[in-house]
Amino acid sequence: MLEGIGITKYFGGLAALKEVDFSLKEGEILGLIGPNGAGKSTLFNIINGFIRPTSGVVRFGGIELTRLKPHQICMLGIGRTFQMVKPFLDCTALENVMMGAIFGKGNGIDLKEARDLALQCLDLVGLMNKKEVLARNLNIVERKFVEIARALATRPKIVLLDEPLAGLNPMEIMDACKLVKRIRDEFNVTVFWVEHVMRAIMGTAERVIVLHYGEKIAEGKPSEISRDRRVVEAYLGEEAMPG
Ligand SMILES: Nc1ncnc2c1ncn2[C@@H]1O[C@H](COP(=O)(O)OP(=O)(O)O)[C@@H](O)[C@H]1O
Ligand SMILES: [Mg+2]
Repeated sequence: MLEGIGITKYFGGLAALKEVDFSLKEGEILGLIGPNGAGKSTLFNIINGFIRPTSGVVRFGGIELTRLKPHQICMLGIGRTFQMVKPFLDCTALENVMMGAIFGKGNGIDLKEARDLALQCLDLVGLMNKKEVLARNLNIVERKFVEIARALATRPKIVLLDEPLAGLNPMEIMDACKLVKRIRDEFNVTVFWVEHVMRAIMGTAERVIVLHYGEKIAEGKPSEISRDRRVVEAYLGEEAMPG
């Protein structure tokens, strides 16, 4: 459904991604993990057209994405969330999600339809009771869920989730993992999911890619990945760092 071949990205002399290949199959939940600075968000930024790769191509159903702009890629059916969420602070939760419905895939939606769709998405993420609350008065966890609802309201075929679990407590993480499964099962959306913490993604993703310093060091089922020597070393190396 979505594939990247030989994705390389240099920021000055720093290779944030080196010859990374990936493919995403329709209907799967694919995890992308790796220590901080591994290049995970950079890969998402390339897929959704925020930045161009130094070399390599990304194709979605045969269409080359690397020449398109983010809004065009969104309209083709790739939604995303950002690690640093930035809702429209002076709009309500509902209005934020309606924005996704109005400017997302296909356009041609009237305000009533956009509102209905946005309510459905807010319901999915459990924020119906906050729909009239201004985004500036939502806490960080609620803002993250608004962000997910806004991405779903664009009616994507694929959603890219960039660290949706960061900052959540263990209970919230369990709920969020269930939510990711429901996004796939009830909304028929294929999920590409970036997470820094390995454990959380392991129970939900069906396949995992591991990045380390911009290189793909492992790929496979969660059970295989968690036993992979290079993966364990990459994470232990990080935990051994001060702080
Ligand atoms: N726009 C940018 N300009 C310069 N360096 C960047 C930029 N974006 C990311 N980087 C660098 O690229 C590397 C990978 O970053 P990132 O993709 O954000 O990692 P991750 O999401 O895995 O934590 C880091 O060293 C980061 O500092
Ligand atoms: Mg990141």
